[in-house]
Amino acid sequence: MKFWIITLTLLMAISFSMCACSHEYEEQEIKEEPTPTPEPDPNPSTGYGKILVAYFSCTNTTKEVAEEIADITSGNLFRIEPREAYTSADLDYNNDCRANREQNNPSSRPEIKGMPKNLEEYEVVFLGYPIWWGKAPRVIFTFLESSDFKGKTIIPFCTSHSSGIGSSYIELHYVAKYEVWKSGKRFGLRS
Ligand SMILES: Cc1cc2nc3c(=O)[nH]c(=O)nc-3n(C[C@H](O)[C@H](O)[C@H](O)COP(=O)(O)O)c2cc1C
Repeated sequence: MKFWIITLTLLMAISFSMCACSHEYEEQEIKEEPTPTPEPDPNPSTGYGKILVAYFSCTNTTKEVAEEIADITSGNLFRIEPREAYTSADLDYNNDCRANREQNNPSSRPEIKGMPKNLEEYEVVFLGYPIWWGKAPRVIFTFLESSDFKGKTIIPFCTSHSSGIGSSYIELHYVAKYEVWKSGKRFGLRS
């Protein structure tokens, strides 16, 4: 009889302590602060730093590509605008047009309206231009010489009827101050 009383008492004690434990556990669970759900970042980082997509475009082919790149990379767009806009006569490359004369003159540097604000904040610069006689238009040289791109990665891209990006950007290396220069890519019409 004594044995049964002791056994019963022990069992009650164990079950009481288990109840107490699970109650404590429940209380602890309730006390825990809920993890706040973070607000989505309106400018999510790509992991490559802040991105600028600077481009020159006369008939908007390069503009379309630049807009897509900016969309994919969450980059900021900047249109490189010559102080004197190119007319269709200026682009009439079958004749002695302004664009041809500039391309034939290595020291030509058509003036541009301005440079992007807060350029120092960007780590990556996509640089877009149309191919003019196998090269980057002289306006791109003006752009690169107008600022310091030290510490930045430059990724050129171009559009053309058929020419590849080829060596269009090689000359640009010599005029720009930059950290890393990627080989770049050519986009055809509607590619
Ligand atoms: C003066 C001039 C020279 C050009 N030279 C070439 C060339 O060498 N190779 C080529 O494939 N396209 C050439 N093109 C065509 C342009 O590269 C093509 O139309 C480009 O996509 C235009 O870009 P945009 O609309 O952004 O100005 C030339 C166009 C112009 C106006």
